[in-house]
Amino acid sequence: MTRTKNRGEYELGYHITPPKGLLNDPNGLIQFKGVYHVFYQWNQNDTTHNTKSWGHVASTDLIHWTEQPAALEPVDWFDKDGCYSGSAVSFENKLYLFYTGNVRNEANERESYQCLAVSEDGVHFEKKGPILKQPAGYTAHVRDPKVWQGKNNDWWMVLGAQKVDLTGDALVYHSKNLIDWTCTGSLLDDELDFGFMWECPDLVHFNQKSAFIFSPQGIMARGDEFNNIYQSGYLTGVFTEAGKFLTDEQPFKELDRGFEFYAPQTFQDDKGRQLLFGWMGVMEPAIEAAVPTIQDGWIHSLTIPRELIYADGQLNQRPAAELKQLRHGSPLVVEGKAEASLQLPTLQNEILVDWEKTAGSFKLQIRKDVDIEYDQHRNRVQVSRSNWLTGDRETRAVTLTKPLTQLHLFLESSSLELFVNQGEEVFSLRYFPEQEARTVDVDACETGKEPQITLYT
Ligand code: FRU
Repeated sequence: MTRTKNRGEYELGYHITPPKGLLNDPNGLIQFKGVYHVFYQWNQNDTTHNTKSWGHVASTDLIHWTEQPAALEPVDWFDKDGCYSGSAVSFENKLYLFYTGNVRNEANERESYQCLAVSEDGVHFEKKGPILKQPAGYTAHVRDPKVWQGKNNDWWMVLGAQKVDLTGDALVYHSKNLIDWTCTGSLLDDELDFGFMWECPDLVHFNQKSAFIFSPQGIMARGDEFNNIYQSGYLTGVFTEAGKFLTDEQPFKELDRGFEFYAPQTFQDDKGRQLLFGWMGVMEPAIEAAVPTIQDGWIHSLTIPRELIYADGQLNQRPAAELKQLRHGSPLVVEGKAEASLQLPTLQNEILVDWEKTAGSFKLQIRKDVDIEYDQHRNRVQVSRSNWLTGDRETRAVTLTKPLTQLHLFLESSSLELFVNQGEEVFSLRYFPEQEARTVDVDACETGKEPQITLYT
């Protein structure tokens, strides 16, 4: 597969990007016959949200990815306007992809078909066509099948959906053979009045608990929460053999506090880890159309792989351990300084900011664009950046439950993922600074609690 020749100054190294065109949701995440496969929503033709296929990359180490041919293309009657999001499972040495065929009929009305495609080698897929009927009581907004194997070799599928009363929902199906499916109803017993559509549902299982991850649309901003146009987050609880998710008494929590994060998907690998990739973007056409990489023929990336840990009733996200292999040589270490200006020799850096005990109020300025600030008195982390469309400063923030002890940054030419306190909170964002701005400026002078800063190139 040929990548656009000139990838431009905002090319990324830690992240999966499309060779050309537009990337959105991660799809079909799986480790199959020892190889990690990541599929993604891909418009090969241009940088708009039209004609989605499934792009495909594979890796044996989770950090070096090889491009594969597109796995699914929108060329059949049941997916002619897009092979939309879905998931993968492996069964009897075959790779099964479940996805949504998006169709506009002659009247330009939406139709959605939940489809199957099967592969023996993990590269070439044979489409089997639709496997479910449109459920009664729902609009044509039914999509994004996530399939997993439960107890007693039962197969389960959860679908993002919209009821005819225009509220969001998640629908559950059950199967013994991955071909014949029976609907068992809504995932949640109690109606959750939470937006007009739920996209990309996922169930992730830990020892005693599960989390239901989904991307609701139509939630109003409330203080520090839900400030992006669409959000992704989770409820914790238990999945029962009746196909129900019994939720804990805890509210929906956003997985990421940054500006660009949506439609995450998880999978379990052979080390038993629950790994997550998200789309580092949000569907907002005006903002997307102004992303500078469009001039170089491509747009968007996935997040880095993150390991999900369930602890104290919440999900923590840690950068996958393999990413450490991308560190070059010995790091630059700065300590005991209330003020410092660090030069960035390269634009692919991991930066760790550690405090001996806990942080005092503190500010880190990234390349004269992104500010990361910590207010010790309010125990609050705030991230601000310049909006590349309007030029305005914009802010996202969170009040922590424990005092700040560590910031961990994956910083690139146009992308930042910030992990706070070992992934208790995460902020993901794109930024497009001036090329010459090459410093990280530290200001901890009011506190007397200087951090140790470790910069890996
Ligand atoms: C989420 C989403 C999915 C859909 C896909 C289409 O970003 O809207 O619901 O399947 O993108 O690309």
